[in-house]
Amino acid sequence: MILPIYTYGQPVLRKVAEDIAPDYPDLKELIANMFETMDHADGVGLAAPQIGLPIRVVVINLDVLSDDLPEYKGFRKAFINAHILEVSGEEESMEEGCLSLPGIHETVKRGNKIHVQYLDENLEAHDEVVEGYLARVMQHEFDHLEGKMFIDHLSPLRKQMIKGKLNALLKGKAHCTYRVKTVKK
Ligand code: NI
Repeated sequence: MILPIYTYGQPVLRKVAEDIAPDYPDLKELIANMFETMDHADGVGLAAPQIGLPIRVVVINLDVLSDDLPEYKGFRKAFINAHILEVSGEEESMEEGCLSLPGIHETVKRGNKIHVQYLDENLEAHDEVVEGYLARVMQHEFDHLEGKMFIDHLSPLRKQMIKGKLNALLKGKAHCTYRVKTVKK
């Protein structure tokens, strides 16, 4: 089932998300719905707060980029109770977008190496050091679990430059092909 994506201004996007218990109801179905919602919106990642749930569940699909990045062929994974322990490595700048911020694309600086812990779809625990593009996508998605969005990483000047677009989103004006839930008053 395709779910509406919550956009900038929705309070759930600013909450610190909670770990879930292994017996969280209908987890498989939730993950399937998140994949379907992400795919429909042409996203490479989606975090549960973006569909209104303040829990630590994320889906990532890098398979769509595998023509350019063959190492990610077949990469479609769910991450449960994900936490970043450390960000390190070289800082790299790259343009990012977010399904909760339709129409906004900005360059974000992030370290290219992270230490992460999470459970996979089968609730197996992982403790990994991740590098490269996946490290960037994980930081973007796992930021959502801390109530953060990529615009929080921008300089005050860049933030000023996109203020008009942010205000439009707050007024419920979202131009995108997928269904959204804005904070229209
Ligand atoms: Ni995002």
